[in-house]
Amino acid sequence: MVNGELKKIGVLTSGGDAPGMNAAIRAVVRTAIYNGIQPVGIRRGYAGLLEGDFYEMQSNSVAKIIQQGGTILKSSRVSNFKDPEVCGKAVENLRKEGIDGLVVIGGDGSFRGANLMHKEFGVRVVGLPGTIDNDIFGTDYTIGFDTAINTAVDAIDKIRDTADSHNLIFFVEVMGRDAGFIAQYTAISTGAEAMIIPETENNLDDLCQYLEKERRSNKTSGIIIVSEGADLGSAEQIAEEVKKRLPNYEARVTTLGHVQRGGSPSCRDRVLASILGNAAVEALMNGISGVMVGQINNEVTYTTFDDACSKHNHINWKWQQIAHVLSI
Ligand code: F6P
Repeated sequence: MVNGELKKIGVLTSGGDAPGMNAAIRAVVRTAIYNGIQPVGIRRGYAGLLEGDFYEMQSNSVAKIIQQGGTILKSSRVSNFKDPEVCGKAVENLRKEGIDGLVVIGGDGSFRGANLMHKEFGVRVVGLPGTIDNDIFGTDYTIGFDTAINTAVDAIDKIRDTADSHNLIFFVEVMGRDAGFIAQYTAISTGAEAMIIPETENNLDDLCQYLEKERRSNKTSGIIIVSEGADLGSAEQIAEEVKKRLPNYEARVTTLGHVQRGGSPSCRDRVLASILGNAAVEALMNGISGVMVGQINNEVTYTTFDDACSKHNHINWKWQQIAHVLSI
């Protein structure tokens, strides 16, 4: 394969960190070196790009990181990167450093910045979907999602023990921003009694009626998974409202929070990150730019940044129904 005359490829992680980002960095760096291209690490995402915080990476710069959570390059959210003047400054830094290809590992917010660099300034750039939320169009799974749901499931299984021992209803809040994928997967796999996700209209009276029905069918404890972006508010707020309507219930709330973002990546996340990191460099070598590299049905796919940023992954409604059927 020819390397499309690429001499230096920059790599950065942007937005919320996700387990598997390190595995992706490792794959980008080693694929570049294998093909005679110098990889350059850009620290702290777009913030480091704007400050020229670059360093040349070697094969051993990424030794023993495949199993580490977080990102060795560190990450940031830079809200004004969509300003063409700010973005232009970043592009200037890339050119000064002789970086002629860029891999951005992050979520849709990060891809908006990458798209601007591609469209307005002709930067050769590809994206890798790195977020625990699994909300990116153009890939079956995002890097970090599998680890996050396994972390959440482990925590909820433990909560179940206490719920059961003390006859409690637990409202467990999971992350996901405005997408309910983490909630749906964790609810199904922990046998939760109900889930409240942003993709549906939810109703407190219906929820209370459902809880009453469950109690009548001799269930003494319950787990309700609340996705952070749901319409009824936070798990705390929902629990308060339920307590007002059902004063005989003892309810507790656990917000899992950032624990879901950390930890050693699962095998699936390591493999996905390795395959996609490799594909990102090969895409740049083949002159492909302005796309996110994803995986659908085990095949590497390219989705334009325009689509990856504007379209949405859809919740599987059949699975919602199954979760309901199995929770009776
Ligand atoms: O996108 C990942 C994510 O963890 C979301 O699930 C959550 O809404 C958000 O980031 C939290 O971001 P921050 O750590 O900046 O508060």
